[in-house]
Amino acid sequence: MEWWQTGVIYQIYPRSFQDGNGDGVGDLTGILGRVDYLSETLGVDAVWLSPFYRSPMDDFGYDISDYCDVDPLFGGLDDFDRLLEAFHDRGVRVIVDLVPNHTSDRHPWFLESRSGRDHPRREWYVWADPGPDGGPPNNWLAAFGGVAWEWDESTGQYYLHSFLRSQPDLNWRNPEVEAAMFDVMRFWLERGVDGFRLDVAHFVMKDPDLRDNPVIEPGVGAFKDMAEYGTQDHLYDKGHPDVHPLFRRMRALLDGYRSPRVAIGEIHIDDYRQWAAYYGADRDELHLPFNFRLLYADWQADAIGALVDELEAALPTGAWPNYVLGNHDEPRLATRFGPENRRLAAMLLLTLRGTPTLYYGDELGLFEVEIPPDRQVDPWGLQVPGLGRDGCRTPMPWDGTPGAGFTRGEPWLPLGPQAAAMHVAAQLEDPGSVLNLYRALLGLRRGMPSLHRGGYRRIEAPAGVLGYRREAPGAAPVAVMLNFTGEGQVVEAAGEIALSTTMNRTGTRSAGSIILAPHEGIVIVDR
Ligand code: GLC
Repeated sequence: MEWWQTGVIYQIYPRSFQDGNGDGVGDLTGILGRVDYLSETLGVDAVWLSPFYRSPMDDFGYDISDYCDVDPLFGGLDDFDRLLEAFHDRGVRVIVDLVPNHTSDRHPWFLESRSGRDHPRREWYVWADPGPDGGPPNNWLAAFGGVAWEWDESTGQYYLHSFLRSQPDLNWRNPEVEAAMFDVMRFWLERGVDGFRLDVAHFVMKDPDLRDNPVIEPGVGAFKDMAEYGTQDHLYDKGHPDVHPLFRRMRALLDGYRSPRVAIGEIHIDDYRQWAAYYGADRDELHLPFNFRLLYADWQADAIGALVDELEAALPTGAWPNYVLGNHDEPRLATRFGPENRRLAAMLLLTLRGTPTLYYGDELGLFEVEIPPDRQVDPWGLQVPGLGRDGCRTPMPWDGTPGAGFTRGEPWLPLGPQAAAMHVAAQLEDPGSVLNLYRALLGLRRGMPSLHRGGYRRIEAPAGVLGYRREAPGAAPVAVMLNFTGEGQVVEAAGEIALSTTMNRTGTRSAGSIILAPHEGIVIVDR
């Protein structure tokens, strides 16, 4: 099996991980100083870095004006090389973000495309004439609010932007765009990166005829929580089948390198059968289309169990599963599922079959930070009140000093009241902390083949408890019992308790039945 199957991925949001120069914003030299935390203290196998490229920062780096350079806010290419080397020296892989769907409107490609209808780069973006009524070409909406089309006065056409108006969509039907973006990929692959996380991967191909999306009742569709955007079935503005041959070509590019490089795609599709298509008919597209369903799951044993069964059933032969419980676009899991479920969530994520992706700070059990209106900066939240993502992007608290060890300056987002008590230094001192639970889980997972590569099978458990067995040939089988209820539950399990989320009965033996505490989870080894 490959590293991206057996390993654990950790997402770093560079603005918020560690500030190295005192300007209040995290940067690459900052991360360099925390490499040992990631490789030794925590023990993750790979990091995914959210964008650090040149950008006007309208969408905090997801609006790129130069794909092949580091924004001065984060450092320079030499800092990136040093960071990559430091991770590689410790056996940690590095995945970088690739934003293929759109650039910044200040990218030279767009400036040229916009400069005139006859410019050779005109067709690098999606330009269209007004619709019959003189308005936008069709009814498509931008994910961050408003219509997806912006009128360009000087050339008399609209351009498409699936997100902010300063994030024009590239036209991937133009082979020159594909060639340019594949060159960008080669640039980073040759520097040594181990793979890409593809931003809104399935958005890159839309209906070539620009047909209207069907209008649906609000509050029922897949994007029902996204205000006006939720009033359409997004049939035509993303996910056109032509995306599959493109991903096959991209995969071939990655496969051309001797050491294995990974493609992970941000694919927001809830139907597992449709979602599974992104692995490719012959497992020749994305290695891992992100599986986001746990994020919004009903936090109940039977619902989670059913979801895992559904995923396992939908997975094509040879496809490898993965799970996500948090990222820079979602409310912190501790707030989403409640504080009493933080530990159970950690055990679930790190004991299921498939690659887990951890979001920085979730290993501390951090909550969503309430951001006062005058400190809100996320453009989505500013355009659609209530949908802001600042609360999950606050700086990582490392210690009890005024800037929490994150910065000696003024942090770009407030640290929030939790930082003072929940920082890394305090949690390392406390044997029962959430951080020490994550460390124990990561150590267990790494040490036990059944956990990092074994099969998955549900086992009998009382109502409200999710039980499953993980088993690999030649390795000790493992049973996991997760109590999703607020009451004690008696479960039948014999063996050595390798870990409990309460951290206080690890190492004891069970001969038969065990009483799980409310919200307790255990890993039992059959030996
Ligand atoms: C993805 C990113 C998100 C970004 C958006 C537009 O969803 O995860 O942070 O705002 O794409 O680039």
